[in-house]
Amino acid sequence: MAGQQFGDYQNEIYFDGLFGVQPTLPMTFADLETRARAALSPSVWSYVAGGAGDERTQRANASAFEGWGLVPRMMVGARQRDLTVDLFGLRLPSPLFLAPIGVIGLCAQDGHGDLAAARAAARTGVPMVASTLSVDPMEQVADRLGDTPGLFQLYTPTDRALAESLVRRAEGAGFRGIVITLDTWLTGWRPRDLATGNFPQLRGHALANYTSDPVFRARLAKTPEEDPRAAVLEWAGVFGNPLTWDDLPWLRSLTDLPLVLKGICHPEDVRRARDGGVDAVYCSNHGGRQADGGLPALDALPGVVEAADGLPVLFDSGVRTGADVVKALALGATAVGVGRPYAYGLALGGEDGVVHVLRSLLAEADLLMAVDGYPALADLRADGALRRL
Ligand SMILES: Cc1cc2nc3c(=O)[nH]c(=O)nc-3n(C[C@H](O)[C@H](O)[C@H](O)COP(=O)(O)O)c2cc1C
Repeated sequence: MAGQQFGDYQNEIYFDGLFGVQPTLPMTFADLETRARAALSPSVWSYVAGGAGDERTQRANASAFEGWGLVPRMMVGARQRDLTVDLFGLRLPSPLFLAPIGVIGLCAQDGHGDLAAARAAARTGVPMVASTLSVDPMEQVADRLGDTPGLFQLYTPTDRALAESLVRRAEGAGFRGIVITLDTWLTGWRPRDLATGNFPQLRGHALANYTSDPVFRARLAKTPEEDPRAAVLEWAGVFGNPLTWDDLPWLRSLTDLPLVLKGICHPEDVRRARDGGVDAVYCSNHGGRQADGGLPALDALPGVVEAADGLPVLFDSGVRTGADVVKALALGATAVGVGRPYAYGLALGGEDGVVHVLRSLLAEADLLMAVDGYPALADLRADGALRRL
């Protein structure tokens, strides 16, 4: 089955141009970033754009893509491209997904970015991984997704009953999988935020999934509405659980939905995840926000794919262009997560801004596959498609 031809987005833009209509949203990541910085408050900007340490890993994530090049193939006649993927039974129109971004709510001018991102997912068919840390409760986020599948990302709290409650709610809300993030049971050293003493959750932001949760509420002497400060302190105490592999059977027992472990970069960890019965692994270093001095996530991807041995591999960290998407797919990613770029699109244009970022990434990826003669994702993954520069 041939998928949508995402490259057609450029025709829309050029034809609008014939009538004097210029795009109002940026066409490059650099422009997106510059304009988002001006659109966001300094504290939200520093939280979203910043990373761990001196941000070397964060920069390396993006520049690692420059180390690979696609080899053009001619006379392929790639008139139709097929970017559809199958992810644990979900038939998706494209290999993109929205990576979980806590505080995405704050990136929208109206403060409801989780809902806007979900509506953008509904419009594009690009699945959203909804963060535990959201301004609006997960049920409302799920409600905006329409027919597009959503996955719920769980930060596993120390209270197992609370973890179970969050997962039950995600199931009830209609999420189609649970993504457990392993690399953020505490916050990495983030100089930009430290310099202004700014940590949004401690200021009470993006805690709606907790304050709306019956198990969380039962832990409080007064309701979060009566005593918001006590709720924040309770949240800080319960947020992060330093999980071990011994916890995996319990995590697996939490749900029959597909289970994905996020933050996996070492082949041995892939094997342990596989042995523990997960449905996919998610190769990511959290966009360099958690630990500096590490490998770019892209460099870990081939080893993860090999160890996954057919198990789906989600990937993010440093994806900025359609060419980056294609390279991650060629290295074996099943699906590719967009992070900061959609936060910036949201800051500039709300729901439309996210749609624009996603359509632009997909158009560039699709046109690249057309020009370079790789009509299907399987062609990209064949030997010799990608070379180290
Ligand atoms: C502001 C911000 C908040 C994030 N919050 C979460 C989160 O709540 N849960 C999670 O698993 N990952 C979170 N991440 C990590 C993303 O899911 C993803 O791994 C990262 O953005 C990829 O890096 P990139 O944006 O530089 O491409 C966050 C990233 C950013 C930028």
